[in-house]
Amino acid sequence: MKVIALNGSPRKNFNTGTLLKKALEGAESEGADTELINLYDLDYKGCNSCFLCKTKDNKSYGMCAVNDDLKEVINKIEESDAVILGSPIYLGSVTGEMRSFMERLIYPYLTYNNPPRSLFPKKISTGYIYTMNITEEQLEGSGYELLFKTNEYYLKTIFGHAESLFSFNTFLIW
Ligand SMILES: Cc1cc2nc3c(=O)[nH]c(=O)nc-3n(C[C@H](O)[C@H](O)[C@H](O)COP(=O)(O)O)c2cc1C
Repeated sequence: MKVIALNGSPRKNFNTGTLLKKALEGAESEGADTELINLYDLDYKGCNSCFLCKTKDNKSYGMCAVNDDLKEVINKIEESDAVILGSPIYLGSVTGEMRSFMERLIYPYLTYNNPPRSLFPKKISTGYIYTMNITEEQLEGSGYELLFKTNEYYLKTIFGHAESLFSFNTFLIW
């Protein structure tokens, strides 16, 4: 069993990184091999809209044609059994790096057929850990729930299973 975690925070050892490491420790205690990848260490951009992943007679159909640091990450995810994404909330959304990563990870596998909507080769489990400075009481009316639901929808549609965890009132500095 291989579990990969992706940290979308620029701060490797703060709130998001700590929770991701704890999740991986839990997986390791059940015998899993784990890897933590810090997105801010990688050189990549979001989807460039080339549409080669959607061109049926192209060798890149169903996969991202861009050759940068995400190629190896996406290959590793295809070989994994579970993936955990983690991001701080920045201005009501996930960080820019996490958003760009999600475009590149999810869109190539998404089909417009109904069903199946996914070209990902198998079913795996996914989790999403969000950290944010608002309190749990402030969540209602914040608009963040739509973001969480939308991300869960795409992860479930592509990979088969999606769960989310929320950490509120996080430390800004220490
Ligand atoms: C640029 C920026 C924007 C932020 N925007 C929000 C926000 O919209 N809502 C919120 O609850 N917290 C916001 N925060 C706080 C972070 O989400 C929170 O401190 C988070 O836990 C940081 O994660 P980290 O410790 O893993 O870096 C923001 C922080 C930064 C640096």
